[in-house]
Amino acid sequence: MPRRLFVTTALPYANGPFHIGHIMEYIQADIWVRFQRMQGHEVHFIGADDAHGAPIMLAAEKAGKPPEQFIAEIAAGRKQYLDGFHIEFDNWHSTHSKENTELSQDIYRKLDGARLVYKKAVEQFFDPVKGMFLADRYIKGECPNCGTKDQYGDACENCGTVYSPTKLKNPYSTLSGAKPELRSSDHLFFKLSDEKCVNFLREWLEQPGRLQPQVVNKAWEWLDGEGDKALADWDISRDAPYFGIPIPGLPGKYFYVWLDAPIGYLASLKNYFDTGKARKSGETRGFAEFLAARDTEMIHFIGKDIIYFHTLFWPAMLKFSGYKTPDQINVHGFITVSGDKMSKSRGTGIDPLRYLELGMNPEWLRYYIAAKLNGNVEDIDFDPDDFLARVNSDLVGKYVNIASRAAGFLNKQFDGKLLPVDSDRVVATAKWTMLAIDAEERIAGHYEQREFGKVVRETMELADRINEAIDREKPWELAKRPDQKQRLHEVCSDSIDAFRRLTLFLAPILPKTSERVATLLGLKLPLKWNQLGEPLHSIRQYEHLITRVEEKQLDALFEPPSEKAAMTTPASPSTDGTISIEEFSKVDLRIAKIVKAERVDGADKLLKLTLDTGSGTRTVFAGIKSAYDPAKLEGRLTVMVANLAPRKMKFGVSEGMVLAASGDGPGLFLLSPDSGAQAGMKVK
Ligand code: MSP
Ligand code: ZN
Repeated sequence: MPRRLFVTTALPYANGPFHIGHIMEYIQADIWVRFQRMQGHEVHFIGADDAHGAPIMLAAEKAGKPPEQFIAEIAAGRKQYLDGFHIEFDNWHSTHSKENTELSQDIYRKLDGARLVYKKAVEQFFDPVKGMFLADRYIKGECPNCGTKDQYGDACENCGTVYSPTKLKNPYSTLSGAKPELRSSDHLFFKLSDEKCVNFLREWLEQPGRLQPQVVNKAWEWLDGEGDKALADWDISRDAPYFGIPIPGLPGKYFYVWLDAPIGYLASLKNYFDTGKARKSGETRGFAEFLAARDTEMIHFIGKDIIYFHTLFWPAMLKFSGYKTPDQINVHGFITVSGDKMSKSRGTGIDPLRYLELGMNPEWLRYYIAAKLNGNVEDIDFDPDDFLARVNSDLVGKYVNIASRAAGFLNKQFDGKLLPVDSDRVVATAKWTMLAIDAEERIAGHYEQREFGKVVRETMELADRINEAIDREKPWELAKRPDQKQRLHEVCSDSIDAFRRLTLFLAPILPKTSERVATLLGLKLPLKWNQLGEPLHSIRQYEHLITRVEEKQLDALFEPPSEKAAMTTPASPSTDGTISIEEFSKVDLRIAKIVKAERVDGADKLLKLTLDTGSGTRTVFAGIKSAYDPAKLEGRLTVMVANLAPRKMKFGVSEGMVLAASGDGPGLFLLSPDSGAQAGMKVK
């Protein structure tokens, strides 16, 4: 029986372009979806932008744009990433849409009708300059315990004390710098702690196959928490100004973004049905009927940071508003790059668009990510050397190699005709089919369980076996002996048949390569798992399938983006040229001592400075050669930008910048602090 699957990925905030973490999630889900389609199942793969909330409202304001325009521009940028990595959503919509407004208001009314919503006054900081209530992340002040300045409203980075923002001394709004006032306002709460919710969730969580064991455990901890860890009701309203969906009957109040965000899954599905796209993919029912149907499976792919929302609120919201609850939630870990947590401010990570612009093959990344993924909630690391090795030695060196070893002889000597597979033949390649038949069910099981690393491993082991068999048969020697023509034909035919099987095993991971192989071998498209056993007849002219990664491509990928590119990111300063304290405080200015200053061979403007930063040394290339004799600089104190992303220059990597003044006329003047300052001190 074909399954009917409604599959989603988490809805990305519409406040910036996709990063590698998003792409990883989409690749994971896309592979799973493609596998299900190859099995003959009906899949509707749905995504959308998560467009609401204070951060997006403020980002739009900073960019000097209405939020609608801001999110529309972000949305317009999505396609190039998705197409670029062969991620095939059936629909991409937005939480800022009429479908989502209707559904969210409807669900809210039903929850209210089920007596799961109540009103309560909440005291909260209010920014009198901005005229808005402040979420905790927009408040800073002095730690109530140790007095350290500029601490966020939740915990002190210096002494680790945890507190609520109202406990900060001398609090200020990071948006305006103003002193916030405590004000009271009515909020709506969703009564998650209600007995019927808790009872429902207990049952829902325990359903086998729904959640990974680690995720069930997490959810249980929250559900069964006691004392200050007790399950809390959920504040679902926000006061104007807010970019969100108005709460019916309560002017000036909006749904908190996390209320309408998951409803966006349904909104995008509804849009997909209402615009006739579902019909095109063979689904004849309407949205409501499809969603309510018993055999419709609702499956979410999400990252580990949003488990709480998806395993507690979301199923409870759906249940008590009368909708189908999720059948499966698949949680993945985070992707790090060379062991580093991604952070845009530090400029590490991989920019997916740059990857594409460099002409790097998207299937390399799909393959590499697949090779690293398993069904658990584990983080994975993108390691450039490992990437190069796996793509070049395994994907190209083992898999593609099989076709390139056999196809040439078939094209040249046998007019592309293939002999039928016969596992009773005596050639070393013949027995391979038995191995593959044996592996097939396991590989399908691994796909189903999202154990893509195991899929890749098993497939590459099969590739090893067939390559060994080819090594034993030595077709290049058989080809020199006219009496061995039959054997050559058998060896090459078997090898191509093996290649076809491996291609089907890898097809969900390599959608474009597998299509090209299908053309090469005359297989019907779209590829289906049950083509594994169909006989092959001939092969067309072989052309190279996947090239190797070059080291210099990886170097270019990791080179920090040019300043010009950095200036055009959506988070650039407001149009009147002012910046907030928050933005200024992002620049880490420090006193540095010049311990060494040297001329640089071949550079007319640069001096190479070795700086003592108080916590180590850094190399900085500074364009001050015209104004300073290096010997005179040594021992001097100056001011440096300590958190500038390292820049690869012709002469080496520059790890910061020193500050100097200059005017229209000649002259360049390095800054220095008053006496008493010491290397490492912060300048602000
Ligand atoms: N808008 C919310 C989700 C709402 S779903 C109804 C959100 N957006 S997000 O843009 O911050 O994240 C989207 C997805 O990307 C989440 O599943 C998140 O876990 C995932 N990732 C973000 N960074 C990631 C990595 N570094 N690695 C892998 N996935 C990560 O949360
Ligand atoms: Zn402290």
